[in-house]
Amino acid sequence: MEATTVWSFKDRGNWATHNGKYRGNWSPYIPRNLILRYSMENDVVLDPFLGSGTTLIETKLLKRKGIGIDINPEPIAISKENLRFNRNNEYEPLIYNHDSRNLDFLEDKSIDLICAHPPYANIIKYSENIEGDLSLYDIDDFLIEIHKVAKELFRVLKNNKYCAILIGDTRRNKHMIPLGFYVMQEFLNVGFVLKESIIKEQHNCQATGFWYKKSIDHNFLLIAHEYLFVFRKP
Ligand SMILES: C[S@@+](CC[C@H](N)C(=O)[O-])C[C@H]1O[C@@H](n2cnc3c(N)ncnc32)[C@H](O)[C@@H]1O
Repeated sequence: MEATTVWSFKDRGNWATHNGKYRGNWSPYIPRNLILRYSMENDVVLDPFLGSGTTLIETKLLKRKGIGIDINPEPIAISKENLRFNRNNEYEPLIYNHDSRNLDFLEDKSIDLICAHPPYANIIKYSENIEGDLSLYDIDDFLIEIHKVAKELFRVLKNNKYCAILIGDTRRNKHMIPLGFYVMQEFLNVGFVLKESIIKEQHNCQATGFWYKKSIDHNFLLIAHEYLFVFRKP
């Protein structure tokens, strides 16, 4: 279990069916730490941006009732494949191909923990033209849409429970865009309070290649961290 506000995992984690193949997947150490610290066995854990199913592999291993949502049928199929393993007494997770801006099939105050890893605006595009895919929005519009997600996450979470979100910054015209802080503000705006602000170190940051050359030419630092914000619903 991580004990400080800096999380750094040199190996990304390849136990069970974790494989790291999905673009922009998160290390299984992240949901594992969140689940162990902020939930108990038999609790309901929601991932509203499921991707390749990393969080649900962990809910299954750790005996939580996992619910995963993704707007794109491709990662949904990958998740189902990755969840094809047997454990004794596990809960088989529920998976929905749905838009997390509208979670009307989930009741108010029905979730014990949320582990969210959205697209970082349009830095990586996850589809060409799926209506509502948050990776198709540039920063200003992305913030409008993530606000809708935050509102729904606030509604479905039980009182006094936790919602964690991993988000990174970006660089435009040689300057930083503090996307992480902007997203944090949207979660505060819907009523969450900030429990933890964690720096997640990135190890795949290349000290060679395109960005390295640009960083030398224009004298800027390569981004090597993301933020993991943990909010509480008061
Ligand atoms: C950063 S990836 C998540 C990766 C995941 N943590 C993993 O380990 O594989 C973000 C995911 O959000 C999905 N997504 C984008 N817009 C969405 C929306 N409105 N509702 C639900 N999922 C969405 C994308 O299809 C993509 O799979």
